[in-house]
Amino acid sequence: MIIAANWKMNPSLKDAGGLANALNAKIVQPVTRILLAPHTYLIPMSIRLQGSDIRLGGQDCHQAADGAHTGDVSAAMLRDCGASVVLLGHSERRINHGEKSRLVAEKAKQAIVHGMDVIVCLGETLGERHAGQAEQVVIDQLRASVPDEIPRGQLMIAYEPVWAIGTGEVASLADIAAMHDAIASELPKNQRGDIIPNVPILYGGSVNAENAASIFSLDNVGGGLIGGASLDAEAFDLICESARSQMLKSEFVK
Ligand code: PGA
Repeated sequence: MIIAANWKMNPSLKDAGGLANALNAKIVQPVTRILLAPHTYLIPMSIRLQGSDIRLGGQDCHQAADGAHTGDVSAAMLRDCGASVVLLGHSERRINHGEKSRLVAEKAKQAIVHGMDVIVCLGETLGERHAGQAEQVVIDQLRASVPDEIPRGQLMIAYEPVWAIGTGEVASLADIAAMHDAIASELPKNQRGDIIPNVPILYGGSVNAENAASIFSLDNVGGGLIGGASLDAEAFDLICESARSQMLKSEFVK
């Protein structure tokens, strides 16, 4: 299970340091934790997390290797600052910056060239869900956002219904299960017939300490992308603990 903390444009650098220390004080193996920090915090966080099992990631990168792109950050720069993962196509990027799936795929290619793992975000709006188009929208995003040449083991998907992000509203377990199953069954076909093994599909959107366990118990849910609750060390630790219990339970059942 993978639990990724998406700090978005939070918190202050001082609070970020305290938060990173608090998370690092906990051991939640075999859960993999990823900290998606603001770009300007990558170097201080990488220094703070030296020797830690928490992986560091960026929240976006440019699709070009370098060049005249004022204000942008390249995958190589993220790598140089200690990140080994990058989050791409988050709905806040798609909505606030007009990013289309084709651009997300270009960014993913660039990240892969630099040896980074990518988390590609997918999710429908409330209008799309009410119109009965949720699955089609998400599968279309998946097909267009994930480049065919992505190597095995470097891809993670995050399904985040847009209407559930930061709202306290969570999709029903049945809806989460159905969408994760649909994404899982679509993944191999997107790769020119090559099955990519073990692509973790994370769920995101108002995951908290109370609802995490039931979400993580679903088939094809490989972890969570956590926004608001990742700014609270105690809540984030409890979410990681739920993932850990689920992993130990599955191991026991096997
Ligand atoms: P949330 O954010 O947990 O605050 O809903 C999730 C995300 O946007 O990644």
